[in-house]
Order: sequence, then structure tokens, then C-alpha cells
Amino acid sequence: MKSILFVDDEPNVLEALQRMLFPLQNEWRMAFASSGPRALELLAETRFDVVVTDMRMPGMDGAQLLAAVKERSPDTLRFVLSGQSESEVVYRSVGEAHQFLSKPCKPKVLKECVDKAFALRELLANDSLKAVVSQIRTLPPVPQVYTRLCEVLKSPDSSIGDVGRVIETDPAMTAKILQVTNSAFFGLRREVTTVVQAASLLGLNTIKALVLARGVFAPMDAARLPRGFSIDVLWKHSMAVADCAQAICQAENLPKEMTGDAYTAGLLHDAGELVFAAACTEDYARAFDYAVANAITLSEAERAVLGCTHAEVGAYLLGIWGLPHSIIEPVAYHHGPSESVGSTFSPLTAVYVADLLVLNRHREVLEHPAPEPERSYLERLGLADRLEDWAKACDGIHQAGKE
Ligand SMILES: [Fe+2]
Ligand SMILES: [Fe+2]
Repeated sequence: MKSILFVDDEPNVLEALQRMLFPLQNEWRMAFASSGPRALELLAETRFDVVVTDMRMPGMDGAQLLAAVKERSPDTLRFVLSGQSESEVVYRSVGEAHQFLSKPCKPKVLKECVDKAFALRELLANDSLKAVVSQIRTLPPVPQVYTRLCEVLKSPDSSIGDVGRVIETDPAMTAKILQVTNSAFFGLRREVTTVVQAASLLGLNTIKALVLARGVFAPMDAARLPRGFSIDVLWKHSMAVADCAQAICQAENLPKEMTGDAYTAGLLHDAGELVFAAACTEDYARAFDYAVANAITLSEAERAVLGCTHAEVGAYLLGIWGLPHSIIEPVAYHHGPSESVGSTFSPLTAVYVADLLVLNRHREVLEHPAPEPERSYLERLGLADRLEDWAKACDGIHQAGKE
């Protein structure tokens, strides 16, 4: 049974929550606290899977509470449930909260958000890694893209479109902006899967404040990244896979939405490598050495050294950040699509094939072997004969890939 702690200083709100969530009592063990300090007392007595807190409270506010929860119980998921104006909440809690919800929040929406965030927990068998990933505030962006974004944001002539076009080339910034906009906070019916949608929802001023004033995207010192890992190589590879995934969808004449999902998923498919690089630096350096020494794929080396692969860890992070399933599925299964459940073309198909094409194009310069294609997956979809056309569709895409 999942355990959830709700925190709000207004007794009426707590009572309403209690009443509203009563039907879920067989699924959730719920506790209610009227202040941050009271919530921390309860947390000291027992473990909670999720903390859902109000933002504006006297004494310790929601952001301060979540920072304390992160320290004391790192693998607890942290949600904000607020009635405040959008940008204010986003500014205050963007580093501490996994997801943002707005008042009033229907039980169905709340339950969906919690269930989705938990759906990928089983994917990660390693508990200490779960705690490490839950503490990640942001992933490291590509330094030159970050610099370019700051320039664009400072220029008075820039439009939201200009800003979106810069962000959508960077996996870390794309993941963060999709986290913020997919929070149930904006009360949208459709999930946000592309940076263009996300940027226009947030608006230029909010993005400016997040990037320039709050520094949510600040790059990591290159010297702190693991040896063997190059953010530049990962960036070019991710861009090439995103472009190829998009080209494959276009070759299939798929709707614009799915093509957009496939582009974003392509850009984010190796985000788990950023997670390892930022949070498990030493072990990740060992994984690179291990792959080369044993002539095995990087994923195999990750499993041996870290206990799980970058595909699993990336999907886990994006899952607790509330990104849509259409993005998470390709990230989770891009090295083993047969394990997925679908039987028709999906963004996973596009990303899987795009990744293979890009890796194989640079096969001769790879330090570890590129994975072999899983024909059984494409045969299950009845699409094995499309491979050649897809390869042709990607021919014109000359990103450098993993070289
Ligand atoms: Fe990968
Ligand atoms: Fe890849």
C-alpha cells in the first residue's frame, strides 16, 4: 500500500482533502499535517512514499519543507499542491518538487499522477539508485546551447519561437521544461510533449526568470563529468536520433503529434546517461572502462557496474518528473523494444530504429559494439520490410552521431 502525507496550514483544505480521498483508503495509507514542522515529525516516525504539500504556509513554506524532505527521506516523491499563481509556484519550487498540482485537484487527477510516478519504480531494482535519482534537480545542459539560450533570452528582439528552437536541441533543458509544463498544474487536457508547446505555455517572462534569475539550467563543470563521457558526443548523438526519428515518422506519413513525440523522445532517449554522469560520476567512469575492457555494449557494462541501464534510469527520472508515457516508453525500451507491449508503430519504433541507424553509421569508430537490431520486434509490428525505406529517409541527416 502506498503511503501519502498531505500538508496544508488551512484546516478546511485538509478536511476537504480527507473527505475527498476517503474512497482511496484501501489503496493509500494517508496522513494529514497542518504545518511543515508537523509533517517532518510524522516523517521521522514513519516512511512516506509521497509528500503532497501546499506552497504558502506560515513559518516553513512548501519549498522549504520539500527541501527538508529531500534531505531526510530522499526516495520520497515530492509534489506541490498549490492555489498560487503559476509562475510564482514554479519559481519557488522548481528545484525541490517532482510534480506540481493546482487546487482544486480532483481525486482522479491526483491518483493518476501518483500512479504514473510509481509505474516505473519497479523498473529500477536498485533502492539506493532510486534515492540518488529522486534528488536530481536538473540534468546538465550542453554548455554552448546554454550560452546561446542566455544570449537569445537577453536580446530584446527574441520571440518565444526563437527560445523554443534553442531549448529543443538540448536534452537536459527539454526534460526540465516538459516537467514543469506537464504538471497537472496547468490543468491541460492534452499532455505536453514538445518544447514548442511547452515554451508558449510558460511564456517568455517565466522562461527568462527561470533561466536567468533562478539558474535552473546552469551547466555542470566539465571537470566533474566522468572520464570517458563527453556531453558533446551525447548531444550530437541525441540530435541525430531526434532528427532521424522525426524523418522515420514522416516517411510513414504519421500525424504531426506522433512525429513531435518521436522527436522529443529521440532527443531524450539517452537522458539516463546524463543522470549517471551527473549523479554517479565515479561508477560511470568505471562502466566506460568495463565496456571497453570486455568488448561489451555500454548498457551491459552499466548493468554490471551500476545495477541498471541508462534506459531504465532515464525513464525512471522522467517518470517521477511526470513526463507523458509517449516519451517515457521509448526512453525505457530503446535498447530492448521487444519488452514493450505495443503491436503497432509508435514513437518507440521510430526512436529504436533511429538510434540503431545512427549507431551503425558510426560503427567503425565506436569504442564499444553497437547493438544488433531486434528483427523479432519489427516482425511483430509487421514492419520489418520498412527498414530500408527508413534508412533512406535518414540518409540526408548529417549529424555527427557518436563518433
Ligand atoms: Fe541508449
Ligand atoms: Fe542512443
